Amino acid sequence: MIHDERFRRSWSGYARRVTRISAGQLPKTVRDQIDRIGQLKHLDRVADQVDKLVRPRVEAPPVRNALSGVWLGHRLHPMLTDIAVGSFTSAALVDVMAPRHPKIARRLIGAGIVSALPTAASGLSDWIDVYGDARRIGLVHAAGNSIALGLYTRSFLHRGKLHRVRGRRGRGRVSSFLGLGVLAATGYLGGHLSYVLGVGVDHTGFHPKLEEWVDAGAAEELSEGAHTVARAGEVEVLLVRHNGDIKALANRCSHAGWPLAPGKFENGCVTCPMHGSTFSLEDGHVIRAPAASSQPMYRVREHNGRIEVRS
Ligand code: FES
Repeated sequence: MIHDERFRRSWSGYARRVTRISAGQLPKTVRDQIDRIGQLKHLDRVADQVDKLVRPRVEAPPVRNALSGVWLGHRLHPMLTDIAVGSFTSAALVDVMAPRHPKIARRLIGAGIVSALPTAASGLSDWIDVYGDARRIGLVHAAGNSIALGLYTRSFLHRGKLHRVRGRRGRGRVSSFLGLGVLAATGYLGGHLSYVLGVGVDHTGFHPKLEEWVDAGAAEELSEGAHTVARAGEVEVLLVRHNGDIKALANRCSHAGWPLAPGKFENGCVTCPMHGSTFSLEDGHVIRAPAASSQPMYRVREHNGRIEVRS
């Protein structure tokens, strides 16, 4: 009982500090530290080793498609992190608000540990195609999550058969709160990767809509099987004549924004030259990851010998 009371007091002190930080802005030094992580070139050697370990295990198209989230229409990783982080956070709340129910907290931690495994797999699958600063920050994010997972596993074990022994249960709680602290820091890095460095976002998301028919060039210049890039308004459109029809899709790859035009055109698909995402020319859907979002397609018509496109 005394132990529970002490625990509750330390938690409310922590909550007060978090509130104070969120009332202002995170110090600029936090951003500087993240930038510094991104410049730690000696991490590249470790990153190369991890890449060598991960790539062959996720490269098979069905595995890569599943982990990237092709079936979902966008990245799988953020959705899985919600399950893991949600379970661990809920366990912390049970510890604080319902300390007489340690078994519930333990079950939540168990659920978090189980969901952490596919979360890590999807994250690593996304990570193998990023470079430079994002790759190094992603590596530290992954390492931090591994430490958090270790702490939660330790907590789970301490709360097990021995949960009736007061000292062990206390250790289990300390481990899980340390894990939560590490998780908060690595979650911040994950947010930085997505929302500042644009890892995992659909790079065609900000393409303006073509509300009206826009001229995209002469129809006769596009022979069967040929492709060309045209500017239609503010959008770069990739035009392909396939089985007599003209197909128009965004030239910027939804995965990381590289141009599709220099890619490979075969079997009614285009394959991005950068990381090998393959899109159907019929409707732009992803045939092969790492892209998870379909490539935007445009409607096409031929008018007075000219190609016109619109959204
Ligand atoms: S930019 Fe990565 S597959 Fe196209």
